[in-house]
Amino acid sequence: MKKDIRTRRDIERLVDRFYDKVKADDLLGPVFNDVARVNWERHLPVMYDFWDNTIFFSGTYSGNPMLLHQHLHGRFALTASHFDRWIDIFNITVDELFSGENASMAKQRGGNIAAVIRSKILGIGSRG
Ligand code: HEM
Repeated sequence: MKKDIRTRRDIERLVDRFYDKVKADDLLGPVFNDVARVNWERHLPVMYDFWDNTIFFSGTYSGNPMLLHQHLHGRFALTASHFDRWIDIFNITVDELFSGENASMAKQRGGNIAAVIRSKILGIGSRG
């Protein structure tokens, strides 16, 4: 039986595994590696804080992901397929490592936030 997401260490495992898959993904990998040229040493701790805050309301994150993704979209056209892939990889990663209430909540919140960013950037219900 897999355990639930309970600690900051669990969040770090989830985020590390998620971005390992994202980096290697044929669709999302190039956006992070070639378009944004992400500095992972800087980005990963921000994402630990984001998910810590999103799952445990820890107050660790106060950035503006919406603005950042709009800016990214201005440099490289994101499509519905990018968001679908993001959600698939996120859900697969959560299920691979955890199960329980917080794991379900993480998937739900991830999906909701993805839908909000996507509709803001692409318009509601858009495909591609
Ligand atoms: C099409 C899907 C997505 C792509 C291609 C994408 C890509 C990116 C990139 C390139 C960055 C900048 C990283 C850096 O340079 O440090 C970023 C930051 C970030 N992304 Fe995404 N993202 C996607 C979806 C999402 C979703 C669905 C969420 C939330 C559930 C999310 C949350 C964040 C957060 C919190 C940051 C950091 C913002 C900050 O620095 O304060 N992203 N994303």
